[in-house]
Amino acid sequence: MSAPQIVETIAALRTRLAAARGARIGLVPTMGALHEGHLSLVRETRKRADTVVVSIFVNPAQFAPHEDFDRYPRTLEADAGKLAAAGGTDLIFAPPVGEMYPRGYATTIEVGGPSRGLETDFRPHFFAGVATIVTKLLLAVMPDMATFGEKDYQQLLVVRRLAADLGLATEIVGAAIIRESDGLAMSSRNAYLTPDERRIAGQMNVVLKRLAAKLRNGEPIAVAEADGRRVLLNAGFASVDYVAVRDTKTLEALTSLDRPARILAAAKVGGTRLIDNMAV
Ligand code: PAF
Repeated sequence: MSAPQIVETIAALRTRLAAARGARIGLVPTMGALHEGHLSLVRETRKRADTVVVSIFVNPAQFAPHEDFDRYPRTLEADAGKLAAAGGTDLIFAPPVGEMYPRGYATTIEVGGPSRGLETDFRPHFFAGVATIVTKLLLAVMPDMATFGEKDYQQLLVVRRLAADLGLATEIVGAAIIRESDGLAMSSRNAYLTPDERRIAGQMNVVLKRLAAKLRNGEPIAVAEADGRRVLLNAGFASVDYVAVRDTKTLEALTSLDRPARILAAAKVGGTRLIDNMAV
């Protein structure tokens, strides 16, 4: 399989994609530092599309000034090598910041509904940054479908909402979380963990699994949520932003398991913030 071509401008991307229009085009938006989780998104996309574009762009708009934008891993060459070795990618779109946010840039996409609460309580800038760049990527590529990992579950629902509300012609596909052998959800930020922190991080999915079982056995939601926080702190997490049981489709808070539910959690181990989620 030949190595995917890398393009850096929207104009070059559109020229390259012109010949592919008519057959299905799929997009996998990423911030690079690719791991097996991203490669699984490529595989899912390949099943449904004839041409697959992977975007690699560390989006400044979704980082607050105190967050890790500067130290976020930028590994384009290695990423391109992984995509070439895995196969399935036709084109890599890796624009410089000025291509996506040219001088004078002044437009932001704000999504309500599923953006409210959870991540927004702790990263209030985050979903406007994500919604803006995802909209811009969808407009640049104009794909028939785009794939997002369920690991960022709230993000997936926000993107679905924005695609529906703006009447975009792109089908938004959610792909299952890919986990390490101890169950830790794969994430580019796992690279920040020291060996000790990595061991603690592996407890998050264990705790969520236990909570899901307890909820199914009738434990009240508020008790399970409080229990989850306590167990994560006892396991060595430095702080817990939330452990919340929510409606799977809307992320509304639940008082009983009268509809499909999902547990979502965010906690810090050392200085690294991890998120995970699980169906109940
Ligand atoms: O999930 C991510 O990697 C990013 O939030 C995304 C969707 C590529 C937007 O920058």
